[in-house]
Amino acid sequence: MVKLSPSVLSADFARLGADCREVMDAGADMIHFDVMDGHFVDNLSFGLPVLEGLRKALPDAYFDVHLMITHPLQYVKRFVEAGADCITFHVECADDLGATIAAIKAYGCKVGLSIKPDTPAECVFPYLDDLSIVLVMGVQPGHGGQAFNPVALKKLRKLRAECKRRNLNPYLSVDGGVKAATTAPQCVEAGANLLVAGSAVFCAKDVAAAVKEFKAL
Ligand code: DX5
Ligand code: ZN
Repeated sequence: MVKLSPSVLSADFARLGADCREVMDAGADMIHFDVMDGHFVDNLSFGLPVLEGLRKALPDAYFDVHLMITHPLQYVKRFVEAGADCITFHVECADDLGATIAAIKAYGCKVGLSIKPDTPAECVFPYLDDLSIVLVMGVQPGHGGQAFNPVALKKLRKLRAECKRRNLNPYLSVDGGVKAATTAPQCVEAGANLLVAGSAVFCAKDVAAAVKEFKAL
């Protein structure tokens, strides 16, 4: 069954805990927490204290943290302490990928690696053995509500084939422009089994119904 990780970037920040509770109660599998540093991407979002607060409000939720930051390595320990269950960072960041993966694992946290639309799928192949999530971006990271770039579908297919060949089973996740009626089924067909959706969930008139629509895919 396809998993859903609603991205809180599109939630109402004045009632973040309640919004997260609502999607979890409706059947979401985890919470996608988008961290932006204004450098790796041209936007700022939220960081450690906000995750810490959400972790307290939702002690049982799984926090899927997506670091869109240039230097993830120096923040690993603090994100684990703040409540991350999985930390996904970018292949395009400035830190050593192997060292960053090792640090995340050393703190007992799951690891994800993400690729932007212009980065080939093959860039994550050397790290696949260590990954719980491979996150394929369907948009340039930095903002919610952008249109899906179908190049993500090709990459999902390549990743699905490589995982099959090596008998590996990380989540193949896709983030950006994922909509239940249109792009999500295409992503699932291409091999995705973890959908990240921000505006399609939190900007829906009926948030619980939007979650259920994804979960029915
Ligand atoms: C974008 C973020 C996404 C974002 C997706 O840089 O990584 O998680 O919230 O938003 P939608 O689903 O609206 O494209
Ligand atoms: Zn994200």
